[in-house]
Amino acid sequence: MPITWDSRLDTGIEVIDAQHKRIVGYINDLEIAKQKGDRHLVTEVIEQLIDYTQSHFGFEEAMLEEAGYKFLKPHKKVHELFIKRITEFTMRAAKGEDIADELHSMLAKWLLNHIANEDRDYAVLVKQMVNAEPVAAAPQAPVQSSKPGIISGLLGRFFR
Ligand SMILES: [Fe+2]
Repeated sequence: MPITWDSRLDTGIEVIDAQHKRIVGYINDLEIAKQKGDRHLVTEVIEQLIDYTQSHFGFEEAMLEEAGYKFLKPHKKVHELFIKRITEFTMRAAKGEDIADELHSMLAKWLLNHIANEDRDYAVLVKQMVNAEPVAAAPQAPVQSSKPGIISGLLGRFFR
């Protein structure tokens, strides 16, 4: 069953919700590739998912640092442990083991739980920061914030 987005997963931070939706999209793509029995496609989707999730984590951590989130350290640790688990899966896959089912259910559980709980925890703080940003300032408008365009700057840094 593909994962459908529900409001429990919304952080209310547009840029983060868009990234989370894309990750869920990859998890669903993995399920489709698995059902087709296309091992090549399974590997490809897993690679894309890992690559995108790493960029997302980097973005999220930098954003939380800008916002001064006090639980950034443990949050980073959680991301790190997740990447470690995924790496173990890819190592097993490289040895020829079929890990698609196990990986899919781990991803679905872990990421949805992380988004609905840990990520929700920073939402209020980050929304304050985002809302304090000047909105596409008019050409001669004075700079209202010492950190203009934090989000767009971070997007450029973490996503090609
Ligand atoms: Fe996170």
